[in-house]
Amino acid sequence: MKTLTIVGGAVIGLSCALRAAESGWEVTVYEPDQTCAASRVAAGMLGIAGESRTGEDAYLAFAEQAMSRWPAFLERLGDDRIVAASSSLMVGVDSADVGELTMVADWLRGRGHPVEPLTGKEIRILEPAVSSRIRSGFRAGGELAVDNRRLLQVLSDRAAEAGVRTVRSQVTDLADVRGDQVVLAAGVNSALLSPDLGVYPSKGEVLRLGWATGALPPPEHVVRGRINGRAVYVVPRHDGVVVGATQYDGGDDRLPVAGGVADLLSDAIELMPSLREYRLLSAEAGLRPATPDGMPLIGRVDDRTVVATGHGRNGILMSAITAELVAETLAGKTIDNPSIDAGRLSWATQ
Ligand code: GLY
Repeated sequence: MKTLTIVGGAVIGLSCALRAAESGWEVTVYEPDQTCAASRVAAGMLGIAGESRTGEDAYLAFAEQAMSRWPAFLERLGDDRIVAASSSLMVGVDSADVGELTMVADWLRGRGHPVEPLTGKEIRILEPAVSSRIRSGFRAGGELAVDNRRLLQVLSDRAAEAGVRTVRSQVTDLADVRGDQVVLAAGVNSALLSPDLGVYPSKGEVLRLGWATGALPPPEHVVRGRINGRAVYVVPRHDGVVVGATQYDGGDDRLPVAGGVADLLSDAIELMPSLREYRLLSAEAGLRPATPDGMPLIGRVDDRTVVATGHGRNGILMSAITAELVAETLAGKTIDNPSIDAGRLSWATQ
């Protein structure tokens, strides 16, 4: 049996490990400590519309393809507690927020996305906890969210059941790892092992709030708001919500900053006043692995090494498709996909 070593055991590494083990590889994953992984700190949105910027058609197209892999991925994982919400509401307060949302909705509709415009009143019928200051918005159908920590646990269990071995140690040099093939899927740490990839940290803070007796229950939808020009999202959990996220490109420490936490709390409470009564369970910061053009880096960089990193704000959405593309690359197939276009990786291999 051919051996595969995967460096990185968070959402991308584990998804690749499970898929490769099922394709007949003997897989070992190196992951010293998953607790700092961006996918563990995340809120778990599968952000197709929510994470695409108006006009970025290539990104949106890849996000759509990524989403199309999720039904089968969820079926394979076989755990009905992974999905946390089955659609998202995009809402705005002032006229600038509403103007921006209208532009996004028009672009998405033009690309065939299910976009349902909603008045403030209609939004509050769907989500009674949303503030009466919210003027309008739209529902993005099929824009799911998952419980990212549950997903990581289930992925880790399924990978172990499929025979994947995990080693709790840090790889400091790819030349030191054994294996017929190596997959570099270490998120932002991929930059330490392969600096030429150009992956850099994009720090983001998230808060976890727990429902408290007497408060309105958590929402059923993801609620993404533009409040005073800033973006904030509230993502349901069965016992509370996750609120996110700030973004500081280049920030490279994992300590949340007081100002970022204050903005998130005040924007989330403005969006959903009942959150004021929830318990503040944690404030954390993660480092998203960003790339200069915003697209992930997936593909072969040399005879032994395949990379799967640089997923930026959408590692969870893109986990299933990444595992598929990596498995095909390992099997020697030629893949027609913009994210693994050889041209994008050629500069990293010179
Ligand atoms: N996917 C949301 C974020 O990175 O904030």
